[in-house]
Amino acid sequence: MSWIRERTLNWFQSLILKIVKTGQVPRHVAFIMDGNRRYANKQKVAKVEGHTRGFNKLAETLSWCMDLGITEVTVYAFSIENFKRSKEEVDGLMELAKQKFKRLLEEKDKLMEHGVCIRVIGNLSLLPEDMCKLIAEAMIMTQDNNKAFLNVAFAYTSKDEITHAIKDITKGVKYNEILPEDVNEDLISNCLYTYKSPNPDLLIRTSGELRISDFLMWQISDACVYFTNVLWPEFSLWDFLSAIFYYQKCYPDLQRIAKMQNSKPITHNNRVSMYINKLHHERQVMIENMQLSAVQS
Ligand code: FPP
Ligand code: MG
Repeated sequence: MSWIRERTLNWFQSLILKIVKTGQVPRHVAFIMDGNRRYANKQKVAKVEGHTRGFNKLAETLSWCMDLGITEVTVYAFSIENFKRSKEEVDGLMELAKQKFKRLLEEKDKLMEHGVCIRVIGNLSLLPEDMCKLIAEAMIMTQDNNKAFLNVAFAYTSKDEITHAIKDITKGVKYNEILPEDVNEDLISNCLYTYKSPNPDLLIRTSGELRISDFLMWQISDACVYFTNVLWPEFSLWDFLSAIFYYQKCYPDLQRIAKMQNSKPITHNNRVSMYINKLHHERQVMIENMQLSAVQS
């Protein structure tokens, strides 16, 4: 199945969406797409088929997000903890992801037409080389698009992300590029894999688990969090809209919190700006090198 699905809504669903759009719509929504294996068990199909249907549901959900005017989505596609699953399942998930990233590269025209920028966030050093090459190609191909942003968390955990940020900061201090007193929330945010994105406004987790599972822990400190019992492959437009209604109910509180925080802005000096620029440049070069090796092979 394609990543970009053309409009699939009937007239009634379109009408409801129009009504929902008259209220506050989150700019950035994050998803923990949980329950694929329980769904597979329930349907008596193989686990990897559960994940494949999970991907199909992701494509459908992205089309709802576009219809609603949500401009940024972040999805938890593969946690570093998932490497502990059986070899068969890990291989199956890697193969599925490779297939889908290949498909994404074939869908260049559609992605460009919709202005979709794809970013993969996570510890790419833990992934096989061929997968990194596909990821780098997808990221570079879409990097100038700015109408919609899809962040795919792959080989990701927050603890790993924060550990890497701390390592980058201590390296900067060690080589006197920044000083210990330069360390603040803004510097840390800029060292995370998500440095290009605003924080999510809404996090949705399916399957009835009331946990965050090491996902975007820094970034969701003020987000509205919505849990639902439905298994991810069964997530419907109505489940999605229930989450949006919940967000709309939370919105006055979120606004109050945001106002309080705006009253104490975080600033950083020239030295810090230079260090951040250098770090971001290094990350870009790393992605470009991954893509170059893709061209050579
Ligand atoms: C959680 O359900 C889901 C995953 C670990 C994988 C999610 C991946 C996809 C939906 C495919 C996305 C692929 C790309 C390339 C974006 P679970 O396996 O934990 O199921 P359970 O909670 O029922 O055990
Ligand atoms: Mg699970």
